[in-house]
Amino acid sequence: MKYDNRPIGIFDSGLGGLTVAAALRKSLPNENIIYLGDTARVPYGDKSPANIIRFGIEDAAFLVSKGVKLIVIACNTVSAIALAEIRAKFAEVPVIGVLDAGVRACLKAKPEYVAVIGTRATVTSDAYRREIHAVNPGINVRTIACPLFVPIVEEGLADSEICRLAIDFYLDSLKRETPDMLLLACTHYPLMKKSFQSYLPKGVKIVDSADACAKFAEEYLEKNSLVAGKRTSGTERFYVTDMPDSFFKQAKKFLGRDLEHFQKVSISEN
Ligand code: DGL
Repeated sequence: MKYDNRPIGIFDSGLGGLTVAAALRKSLPNENIIYLGDTARVPYGDKSPANIIRFGIEDAAFLVSKGVKLIVIACNTVSAIALAEIRAKFAEVPVIGVLDAGVRACLKAKPEYVAVIGTRATVTSDAYRREIHAVNPGINVRTIACPLFVPIVEEGLADSEICRLAIDFYLDSLKRETPDMLLLACTHYPLMKKSFQSYLPKGVKIVDSADACAKFAEEYLEKNSLVAGKRTSGTERFYVTDMPDSFFKQAKKFLGRDLEHFQKVSISEN
C-alpha cells in the first residue's frame, strides 16, 4: 500500500470552516491538516461573485504553496461561486467543495422536498439547486438566504431567544410546508442544529454539510490512493489573516477545543 503524508489543505472565509476541520480530524486521525481562515476579509457571504472568486483563488494559492495533496473548500459561499475557477487555476491539485458533499448527502437520502439555507451569495448563485437538479430534476428545492444567522452564531447566541426569533423570521413557512430535509449550506449553521431541530416538525431530516464534507474527503483520499500512513497521528497547522479580540473564543466554538499551532499570515503576498 502506498501512502501520501502530504497535508490536506482546508480553507474558509474565517473560522466557521473549523467545523469541517473538526469533522475531518475525527474521521481521519492520521492526516496532516493545514487550515486557512481568511479572518481579515470574513464574511464572504455578502460580497460580490467577482470578489468571492478572487479571495477563493488567493486562499487556494496559499494552500498550494504549502504543498497540500488535496484542497477542501469548507466555505459554502466559495464552493457555490468559485469552485470551477479554483479548479481551473490549480489543475495540479484536486479540489473538493463542501457543496458537492452536501448535495451528495442530500441525494443519498432521496428527499422529495429539500429546503437549502445559506448566505445571501450562496442562495443567489442558485448552485445548490443546479447541482441537485443536475442529478434529479424532480426534487423540489427551496433555497432561503438567512444572513442574520452568521452574526448570531459568531456572537455566541446560537441557543438564545434572538436565535429562535431569527429562525422563525426566515423559516416560518417551513413549519407549514414541511420539507423532508433541511440542508445546512453554511459553515456556521451546524452550531444552530439543536435550535433547528426544536423549531421544525420532527420528521425533517437535518443534513450537516461539515460532516458530509469530511466523509467525502475520506472517500476521495481512499479512492485516489492519497491516504496518510497509519503509524503517526496527524499534525495540525492553522493560519489566519487577522486575529481580532474575539479570535480564541470563536475558534474554540467551531473547533470544539482550544486552537493550538496557529499563525497569522498575509495571503496577498503569496
Ligand atoms: N463560510 C461562509 C459559508 O459557509 C459563512 C461566513 C461568510 O459569510 O463568510 O458560506
